Amino acid sequence: MAEQRLQKVLAAAGIDSRRKCEELILDGAVRVNGKVVDTLPAFVDAENDVITVNGRRIRAARKVYFLLNKPKGVICTNSDPQGRTRAVDLVRTDERVFCVGRLDADTTGLIIITNDSELTNKLTHPRYELAKTYVVRADGQISGDAAEKLKKGVWLAEGKTRGAAVKILRRNHKESLIEVTLRQGLNRQVRRMLLTVGLRVRSLKRTQIGNLTSKGLGVGKFRKLTEAEVRSLRRDVRD
Ligand code: URA
Repeated sequence: MAEQRLQKVLAAAGIDSRRKCEELILDGAVRVNGKVVDTLPAFVDAENDVITVNGRRIRAARKVYFLLNKPKGVICTNSDPQGRTRAVDLVRTDERVFCVGRLDADTTGLIIITNDSELTNKLTHPRYELAKTYVVRADGQISGDAAEKLKKGVWLAEGKTRGAAVKILRRNHKESLIEVTLRQGLNRQVRRMLLTVGLRVRSLKRTQIGNLTSKGLGVGKFRKLTEAEVRSLRRDVRD
């Protein structure tokens, strides 16, 4: 197993936040293989090193992987000054988990939740971004031209968006239902892309991440990913 920062291993084992764990280390409360480690940075092998905090051995965090169908109004960050419900609150686990990437509070649909930061870093890295599919309900009628523009890429503040798959599911003079598949995860990307062609998003739902779909998973529900699904995600982000 690769060496990781000591405070990160402590936090993943549920001791406290990374910041508080740094304090514990600097206070001399932490030993690695019997020796006090009270300077940072410090790196450890979480699987093989014996790590204690105030004399008690920490339990190495077991890796857990969930798929949540996030409801509206629930946020993907782990700390929220406004005290809103967090996506991680909807998943029953004792592990300290976080979201892989983000959905806006207003967006519903699929989000992976895990405590595996190595896999998370890869899944969210621009080099590997998995295909993610969204169903968008927008005010107004999308034209064929606008759909072509979205497919080829539109200009946002960060630059031109990568090519996207765009399927018009339904449209009339009042609204359009569009399926958009992206391999990119810029902040509020779908909403901003649609605005460049004059369409305001009324609702947005993520229906697929790689091979994972929302089939059988009601809004607000979660399930564990199977071992085969986790293996498949790892394969998708292999170097
Ligand atoms: N694009 C958005 O605009 N919002 C999301 O939550 C995800 C993609």
